[in-house]
Amino acid sequence: MLIGVCDGRRIARRRKNERHGHVRAKAHITKKHSGRGDPGAFLVASLHLGYFLPMNARSSDSRVLSRLATAEPLFWRNPGRADLAIGALEPPGPERLAEATGRLNRFAPLLMRLFPELRPASGLIESGLLDAPALGRRFMRQTDGAFSGRVFIKADHALPVAGSIKARGGVYAVLRLAEEIAFSEGLLAGEGDDYVRLAEEKAVRVFGRYRLTTGSTGNLGLSVGIMARALGFSATVHMSVEAKVWKKNLLRRIGALVVEHAGDYAAACARARREAAADPMIRFIDDENSEDLFLGYAVAGLRLKKQLEDRGIAAGAQTPLVLHLPCGVGGAPGGVAYGALHSLGEHVHILIAEPVQAPCMLLGLASGKGADIGVTDIGLSGKTLADGLAVARPSRFVSRLMARMADGCFTVTDEELYASLLNLYETEGLEVEPSSAAVFSGAARLVQTPEGRAFAQAADLGEGASRAIHVFWTSGGALLGPRRHAAFRATARELRKAPSSGAAS
Ligand SMILES: Cc1ncc(COP(=O)(O)O)c(C=O)c1O
Repeated sequence: MLIGVCDGRRIARRRKNERHGHVRAKAHITKKHSGRGDPGAFLVASLHLGYFLPMNARSSDSRVLSRLATAEPLFWRNPGRADLAIGALEPPGPERLAEATGRLNRFAPLLMRLFPELRPASGLIESGLLDAPALGRRFMRQTDGAFSGRVFIKADHALPVAGSIKARGGVYAVLRLAEEIAFSEGLLAGEGDDYVRLAEEKAVRVFGRYRLTTGSTGNLGLSVGIMARALGFSATVHMSVEAKVWKKNLLRRIGALVVEHAGDYAAACARARREAAADPMIRFIDDENSEDLFLGYAVAGLRLKKQLEDRGIAAGAQTPLVLHLPCGVGGAPGGVAYGALHSLGEHVHILIAEPVQAPCMLLGLASGKGADIGVTDIGLSGKTLADGLAVARPSRFVSRLMARMADGCFTVTDEELYASLLNLYETEGLEVEPSSAAVFSGAARLVQTPEGRAFAQAADLGEGASRAIHVFWTSGGALLGPRRHAAFRATARELRKAPSSGAAS
């Protein structure tokens, strides 16, 4: 309860900051603004557009950048979304996807041995695709009947082993390194060997000579740390001071070294990257640049096809699929989108959810600057209660891909995160962490914003997006424990009673 009250105060402060952010950003624009034309156009000019954004997109995007700077919740339609006959997507490409799938299959018997909870899924780390009709009805009621799509939840909030979407990338990246080391150290003769041998004392001793490191806002660190320690690697996780204390404690309990960074976290990660480059016994798993992480997430997108088919759903022209994905640095949503587009094709639509104070992917795409611009450059704080999404700059390589994959992005206030978290619990009985809840605002943005409606119409989703299957991809929460979830709900109920600070447009 105490945590709830405390969080309630933080949100009240955040509301104030968001309003200040609004004013600060406006001042930032008007101070530099020459007085002619609209401030958004000036802002765009000052960002030197032209990095990878199509020319015809510029006038509308100048407006979105100035709106973004005011921390106003919005929907942005990506004019760069390609007509994705899938061969058109850049690398890593289908062979690397197949390689990732094969590697996860090879490791499945070992994973079953290390994590008995994986036995029912034969060693695959996978989540359910849940029909969520009650949530769909709630969306309909809350949008005055405007939203009427069929709603599913892809339950990565309950993903085994590390309880978040980041386990897909983190576990895969560790397994890739483990395999490489096992081959080079003679622990395995080849891909056909018995991988369960990697649980034996000899392998654990060899792995223990290597250190795996990563930098993380929380969940990637947990995923890498848990998997690395299970195999016997030494592990170091660099975390920002804001990362949740329980995540740091859990990592320390399993023997990982946690390094906290009060100052420039990105610089600390850069240092860790350099250290690893100079020492063959240290391997750095790089959230901003790792293709391995990306491939681990992408396998989830590939597997989605079969999960839908098992429910009798074939995504296509008659049944478009809309994926609502939460975005921090972009690896997880980018990978999932990439895999889904490969397996399901052009009738998959990708919508990216970000906090109003940390819309790094939207900013990177709409400005055309990708990773060369950060949210603080337009006066936003980068701070949000969605700790997994509190990222100022997107991944460079993912933002390039996302420029062609994403149909649109929408932004969400902290207050909305809590409202969605409570909605989900009341309708479907599911408990997720705040970062996970960002995706649920996608329903309202699609039908209640002019830009969302324009996208829905262009994508032929039908009246109220009703022809589409909407998959809301939850991304974390299983490890939080009942007391933290109860505290989130207490906060959400307080906020529901309090007068609103302004609904989304
Ligand atoms: C719960 C949760 N959801 C979503 C994300 C976003 O993933 P990414 O940073 O790869 O975009 C994160 C990242 O840590 C997360 O922890």
